[in-house]
Amino acid sequence: MNPLPLGLLPDTAEVVSDGSLAIGGCRIDELAERFGTPLFVYDEAHLRNRCREAVAAFGPGNAYYATKAFLCTAMARLAYEEGMGLDVASGGELFTALRAGVPAAALAFHGNNKSVAELRMALQEQVGHLVVDSVEEIDRIEALVAGGLPRPRVLARITPGVHAHTHEFIATGQDDSKFGFNLGNGDALRAVDRLRRSAAVDLVGVHCHIGSNVFSAANFGKAVEVMAGFAVPLDLPEFVMGGGLGVPYVEGEEAPTITQWANVLLDACQAMGVRSRVCVEPGRSVVADAAITVYTVGTVKHIPGVRTYVSVDGGMSDNPRPVLYGSGYEAFLPRAVTAPRPARARLVGKHCESGDVLIFDAALPEGLVAGDLLATPVTGAYGHSMASNYNKLTRPPVVFVQDGTARMVVRRETYEDLLRCDVAH
Ligand code: LLP
Repeated sequence: MNPLPLGLLPDTAEVVSDGSLAIGGCRIDELAERFGTPLFVYDEAHLRNRCREAVAAFGPGNAYYATKAFLCTAMARLAYEEGMGLDVASGGELFTALRAGVPAAALAFHGNNKSVAELRMALQEQVGHLVVDSVEEIDRIEALVAGGLPRPRVLARITPGVHAHTHEFIATGQDDSKFGFNLGNGDALRAVDRLRRSAAVDLVGVHCHIGSNVFSAANFGKAVEVMAGFAVPLDLPEFVMGGGLGVPYVEGEEAPTITQWANVLLDACQAMGVRSRVCVEPGRSVVADAAITVYTVGTVKHIPGVRTYVSVDGGMSDNPRPVLYGSGYEAFLPRAVTAPRPARARLVGKHCESGDVLIFDAALPEGLVAGDLLATPVTGAYGHSMASNYNKLTRPPVVFVQDGTARMVVRRETYEDLLRCDVAH
């Protein structure tokens, strides 16, 4: 029966006099009319607030926005304007950040399997630092530097053997992982020794990332303890604890704020005698609840004694998280934000498979009909960035709203875009 918990909505969300939702001073129904659906609506003030919170908590230049969570040139520029560095994890993310005008020195370059071409690009552009993930990567960097490219600043990615409480696909700190150098079996120390001795790199620190959507502050405290035990004797200038802070997606979930997360990490660093600059790479916690996705309801199918299916005009192509990780979401009608939600239905998309589910058992208001706008909150992270063209659906536009103004920062794809890479006629 519970109405949507309003805490899941972006900072500037308000219920206007007729019970409808506005964000950034813009009515959602008017945005849908103007830009069509499906539509990602981001609250620009919310994005800036979270960036500022991270910068205030960790210090200017010490918080890198993890662009994989949501990236377009407007977002890259926004995060940089607010004092964040940017974490990029592929040539494409690097290219986007540079095109946005972010200086290479503000970038951290990641990846467990960086290609020679990607490494060449990162070295040529002189990114702020590279997070080195493997022995092969050290070989590749040494060859590139021997060939005349500038010597990079590097951190060693360490797998601390700490298991974060999250979905197994997004846990990365455990020994059984494709990422980084294992601490427990001595690989980490061997890698650090080699990087220290190598004339091709300047080893400036160690890095770890235990996983994503982690709610437990204790997991982060444990990771600092383990990493500090390794890093303090090395006495390197940088200590990067990755991202991973979780956010509430559904009623009843609670997560630490960025400030609380910072307190846990920084207190643990102090207790362990870490004297290095402490850096982080938050993605989800900066952008997730800054956005909602707005859909239009197409069909409503009641199967007596079984269930009701409510189909919208998007689906697993704009939000694959429910299918990939079993992630939960809430849904509401932007025309009746605070309405009780006594009805239950499976919220599905328009793709040609039964797995195309957005919410397995959604609480919805009575009286929902075809043609209604329906929205899912907390879709700002790993939605647009993991969107696909499955069934040749065109990816939705992204609109930033602020102070009564909406600006489209990513346009909707066209059918012509779908054929952009087809070369056979
Ligand atoms: N740093 C590193 C090295 C990472 O691998 C990641 C995320 C982050 C920072 C940012 O983590 P965040 O603060 O966003 O949790 N697609 C999945 C999430 C994958 C995260 C991958 N790495 C999802 O939708 O839940």
